[in-house]
Formats: sequence, C-alpha cells, structure tokens
Amino acid sequence: MTLWYLARGSGLVLLAVLTANLVLGIAIQGGWHPGAWPRFAVQAVHRNLALLAVVLLVIHVVTIELDPFVPVGWWAALVPFVSPYRPFWLGLGTLSLDLIAAVVVTSLLRSHLRLRWWRVVHWLTYLSWPVAVLHSLGTGTDTRLTWVFGFEVGCVGLVAATVIFRVGRADRYRAGVRVLLMVAAAATPMAVLAWSAAGPLQSGWARRAGTPTTALASGAPAGARGQPPAPARFTASFVGSATSSPSGQGETISISGRVQGGAGGQLMVSLVANQLPGGSLAVDRGTVTYRPATGSQIYTGAVVSVAPGSLIFRLAPRGGASEPAELTISGPVPASSVSGLLYFGSVAAGPAGGDGGQDS
Ligand code: HEM
Repeated sequence: MTLWYLARGSGLVLLAVLTANLVLGIAIQGGWHPGAWPRFAVQAVHRNLALLAVVLLVIHVVTIELDPFVPVGWWAALVPFVSPYRPFWLGLGTLSLDLIAAVVVTSLLRSHLRLRWWRVVHWLTYLSWPVAVLHSLGTGTDTRLTWVFGFEVGCVGLVAATVIFRVGRADRYRAGVRVLLMVAAAATPMAVLAWSAAGPLQSGWARRAGTPTTALASGAPAGARGQPPAPARFTASFVGSATSSPSGQGETISISGRVQGGAGGQLMVSLVANQLPGGSLAVDRGTVTYRPATGSQIYTGAVVSVAPGSLIFRLAPRGGASEPAELTISGPVPASSVSGLLYFGSVAAGPAGGDGGQDS
C-alpha cells in the first residue's frame, strides 16, 4: 500500500517539478529575470530542479515496479508501449523518461559535444513535458479526483500562459505568426479539458485504457477507476507475507497481501502484541486497512477478536457503516509467505471464526 501511494505521489510531484522547470526555462528564454537574482543563480535553480526531477522519476518508476499490484515489468520502464498494463498511456511515460534520459546524458557529456547538437537534444525537454502530461491524465488512478485533475489541467494552463508571455515578447516573428501561436497556446488547456471529459473522466476508462482484466477483477487498486463499489459480502483467498518487529514490551506484527477473488485488492493488518510471562505473545490491539480493487473506497477498522489462525475485525469506509470481516491464516506467523481466506461482510462458520458474536 505504501509503495502504491508513493508511486502515485511521486508522479504528481514529478509533474509539478517538470512543469516548474519548463516554465522557468521558457520565461528565462523570453528575457524574464527574477529581481536582483544573478544569472548563474537562476541557472542553478533550473539545473537543480532538473536533478530533483530525475530523482523523483527514479522513485516513481522503482515504486511502480516494486508494487505487486501493477503488472508493468522493468523492460516497459525503458522501452515505450510494451507494458501489459495500459500499454499506450504508460508507454507515453516511458517515452518521456527516454527523452529526459537523452537530455541528461548529453548534458553530462556536454564538453565532448558540439553546442549545436547539445541544444538540439535539449529541445527534447519541451517534447517530454506534454508527453508526460498525457501519460498522467491517461493512466493516473487519481485523475478523477477533482484536485488532482485541477492540478494537472493547472500545469497545462501555467505552461500555456508562459508560452503566450514568451511569444508576446518574440518580436523577431511576424505579428500574424505570433497571434496564431498565442491562440494555439490558449486553446490547449480547453482541448485538454474536452479530451479528458470524453476520455479519462468517463467511467470505464480503466478498461479502455488497457488495464488487464486480472487487475480489474482481482488485484490492482488501479482498476478502481470507473468500477462499481465493492460487493457487500464475499469470501476470497488471501496471499501475502507477515513480518514481526520488536516494539516496547512486545512486538508489532504486520500482515499484508493481496485478496484474490471477491472485490480483490489489498489488505494490511497491524497487530501490537505484548510478551506474557513465559515468553508467549498476546495480541493487545490491531488495525486493518482494506482497499478493494473495485470502487474507490478504503475500508479501515480495528481487530475485535483473535484466535489461533483467525482475526475478526470490523471494517468501514470513510463515513460509512461498518461490516464484520475475518481473516483466517493457515501456517505460522511471521513468515515470508502466508495464505488464507478473507470473509468480508460475514465471519467464517468454522471453529476458528464461528465466534461471530464477538465482532460487534
Ligand atoms: C517524466 C515521466 C513521468 C511523469 C511526469 C509521470 C507522472 C505520473 C503522474 C502525474 C501519474 C498520476 C498519479 C496519480 O494519478 O495519482 C502517474 C501515474 C503512473 N505512472 Fe508515471 N510518470 C512518468 C513516467 C513513468 C514511467 C517511465 C512509468 C513506467 C514504469 C510510469 C508508470 C506509471 C504508472 C503505472 C502510473 C499509475 C497508474 C495508475 O494510477 O493506475 N510513469 N505518472
């Protein structure tokens, strides 16, 4: 879950940094200068923003790759349009990465290159930005959140305004050409709005964008967009891992993994256990987070009962009513691989979980 949030968060911050740097680059080219700042200081900001973007891009790609819920593959991070997950829209992100990589490599080799060639490659930065924006809008799970969409369209608006400023000052071009460029720049945010309304903001976009059916049905939070809410009641397999780390007088046990079947998605349990005289552990309290693959709700709740191989808890979406649920696990905990069953909306009838009365 942390990886998934980090992947999406780093993507958004990356877009902000790339936009800021592009705006700064265009403005400097257009003769803008911030107050008393010496030229080298402005250039240092430009360079450091570019470095920050590279670091964020690495975080974005590595977290996407390490997150088990989006089947992307390392090749797809380098070669555009080969990902099994949203091939075109993700491929645009990869294309943007390749363009940025070309600029970084030629900048490192700048002293060995003709200035003219370095400049030509540096222009690719301008191309990498719109490609990255289309990737963000087309593949981002959060595009349908008002503030995320507003932010993404805001980035486009900011760049369009800077281009208008820049073209307005470029008096070496004929007036007619400048007016045409300005109108095109002003129309771009509108075009992005119109396309988004017809595409990424429509329900069913996740499927049209090329999300694998397996991810839509049983695994990835990415399938959340445009899907129906989680069903009220289901039983599904759970596959994951359980780790334990010392805390205070006892241990914190973390169980996390994937729900296969039912509403799919990801389940995380954190248990605080105290050491009893004699060395055994007693679970004191626990919290549970469940993010179904379908619907956009996140369910959270507390563990209400613990028995060998079974945890009973209640889960509620934000502002909604709580549901009873149970996780049964076969085998020892902690372990690098654990499996069991998730009962959502009910508890198991067997000996481990038949104690449904405790879940209130
Ligand atoms: C300059 C390049 C890139 C930029 C600016 C960028 C930016 C973004 C942004 C803003 C999002 C939306 C996050 C959200 O909706 O919360 C996103 C999502 C994503 N990006 Fe990138 N990205 C870039 C390159 C890449 C590359 C090379 C990959 C390949 C591994 C990639 C894979 C993804 C995936 C899988 C998602 C999530 C899709 C989802 O939410 O379902 N991105 N990116």
